[in-house]
Amino acid sequence: MSATPSETSWNERIIREFRANNGKVGGMFDGVPLVLLTTAGRKTGRPHTTPVVHLRDEGRHLVFASNAGRPNHPDWYQNVLANPQVTMEIDTEKGHVRPLATRAVALDGDERDHWYERQCALDPAFRQYQEKAARKIPVVALYPLDLSTDAARNRMIGEQLIRHHDELRAALRDVRGRIDDLLAGGPGLADPGRPADLAAQLRRHCLTFCHDLQMHHTRENGAFSAFEDEFPDLAPAIERLRAEHQVMEKALTDFETLVEEGPSGRDVERFRAQLDRVVAGLEDHFAYEEANLLPAVGVTPPPR
Ligand SMILES: [Fe+2]
Ligand SMILES: [Fe+2]
Repeated sequence: MSATPSETSWNERIIREFRANNGKVGGMFDGVPLVLLTTAGRKTGRPHTTPVVHLRDEGRHLVFASNAGRPNHPDWYQNVLANPQVTMEIDTEKGHVRPLATRAVALDGDERDHWYERQCALDPAFRQYQEKAARKIPVVALYPLDLSTDAARNRMIGEQLIRHHDELRAALRDVRGRIDDLLAGGPGLADPGRPADLAAQLRRHCLTFCHDLQMHHTRENGAFSAFEDEFPDLAPAIERLRAEHQVMEKALTDFETLVEEGPSGRDVERFRAQLDRVVAGLEDHFAYEEANLLPAVGVTPPPR
C-alpha cells in the first residue's frame, strides 16, 4: 500500500519542520528522537524521504519498521531490502541537520528482539504496534560511512563515483538523442501518424534520468559529510559541490513536473529547454567532483 495524498502532505510538513529546526518537530512528535531516511523507490528509483524514530547505539542507529502497526511493511523498509544505501538526516550540535550516508542491515533473532523490547520500554506505543500488526516488526541498524577505516573500500567508493558519472552521462545522451529525434521528425507529438508510445517512452526515459540524478546527489550529500570528517581540507570544495546540487535540484524538480504533465502537442521544445537548464554545468560539476574527491580516496581522476 502506498501513501495517500493526505499522508504525503503530512509527511512533507514534518520533513520541512525537521530540516528547518535541527531535527525538532512539534505536536505529537514533541521530544521524540527522529531522523529522516531517504531511500531509492524500489520500482521508480525516485528518492523517498520519511521521518522515523531512532535509537542510538554507539556508532550506529536503530530504526523500526512499525508503520504505526499497519499490517504491511512501510515503503522505506521494502526499499531498503532492494537497496541498503540510505541517506539519514540527523540533528547536530552545530544547530543544523546533517545528511549521512549509511548502510542498512536488518537485525534478526535475539538482537532484533532485544532492541525492539528496548524501544517498547522507551515508548509503549511500539508494543501496541506489534500487537496490532500481523507481522514481526523489523528493526534495522544504520551504519554511517566512515572513511577512516578501510583504504580498499575508499578506493571502491571512488571507482563507483566514476562509474555513476559515466552511467549518468550515457543516460543523458540517450534522453537528448530521443528529444532530438522527435524534433527532427516533425513539429510535435500530437501529429496524426506519430506512434503514440513515443511520448510515453520519452517520458519514461526522462523520469528515469531525473530520479537517477536526484538519487546520485542525495547519496553524495550524505557521503560529503564523511569526506568533511576525514579530509577537513576539502571543506571549501564540498561547500561548492553542495551548492551546485541545490541549484540542479530546483531545475530537476521543474523538469520532473513538466515531464509528469506531458509530453503532448508541441512540448518537446520546452522539454529540451528545461533539460538544458538541468544539465547546464553538470559536466563541470562531475569533473570538479572527481578532481577534488578522488585523490583523497586514492583514485586518479580520469582525463576529462
Ligand atoms: Fe555531485
Ligand atoms: Fe557526482
